[in-house]
Amino acid sequence: MELKDKIDLNNLPKHVAIIMDGNGRWAKQKGKARVFGHKNGVQSVREVTEAGAELGIQYMTLYAFSTENWNRPKFEVTALMTLLVSTIRKEISTLNKNQIRLQTIGNINMLPSAAQKELLEAVESTKHNTRMTLVLALSYSSKWEIIEAVKDIAQQAKDGQIAIDDINEDSIKDALSTKDFPDPELMIRTSGETRISNFLLWQLAYAELFFTPVFWPDFRKKHFYEAILNFQNRERRFGMTSEQITDVKG
Ligand code: FPP
Repeated sequence: MELKDKIDLNNLPKHVAIIMDGNGRWAKQKGKARVFGHKNGVQSVREVTEAGAELGIQYMTLYAFSTENWNRPKFEVTALMTLLVSTIRKEISTLNKNQIRLQTIGNINMLPSAAQKELLEAVESTKHNTRMTLVLALSYSSKWEIIEAVKDIAQQAKDGQIAIDDINEDSIKDALSTKDFPDPELMIRTSGETRISNFLLWQLAYAELFFTPVFWPDFRKKHFYEAILNFQNRERRFGMTSEQITDVKG
């Protein structure tokens, strides 16, 4: 039986978030420059996007560039931005053919104007696609996002649009850049690191975390299936007892 056939299609996470890590180390192992790793990482992006859409995952968020990544050497940042533009340009027709909607989260205004333009066009051109939403987190960090949300809510309070006592989970959710997406139920991080690294801190509150030693450029469909199967074999209790969960499931 193939790994994919073991997956219960009625018990898929609606939203999978991925920290694509290890491009640099993968390249170093091969005696190549870090950018070689990023270039090869694009094939893994294709594979997981395809695997997710084929299975019926509705939302997938990829951590493509963090706020902290701006501190990398300038040539690496430039190479990543160039790669982003060329990949989107190349893949847009495939996204449309496969009914995939592209969205972004993060401080997009920080990106070079060519990248902003390419992204905007891709978001616009794919906005009616309904099979899967692919979210690219770019110049994103969760603390940045939370600060923006706090500012937004404070302004609403100041303007008398919301009473302080009415601030609740929903008002915070609505002020985050992920307001249109359900929270991820599964977060995958590659390359053996076991941190969340400022990624979707609020949204991952109840997510299952899956860590694999595989470097991102080596990540293939089978690794994605492994993560989904691992998720399906866990018991998600949301603070309840096992017995309560069995009662709820019936
Ligand atoms: C982490 O590896 C990877 C990144 C910071 C960039 C991810 C980018 C891509 C996979 C390519 C472009 C993506 C799209 C969506 C077009 P690292 O450099 O931190 O590796 P290291 O930890 O081994 O140094």
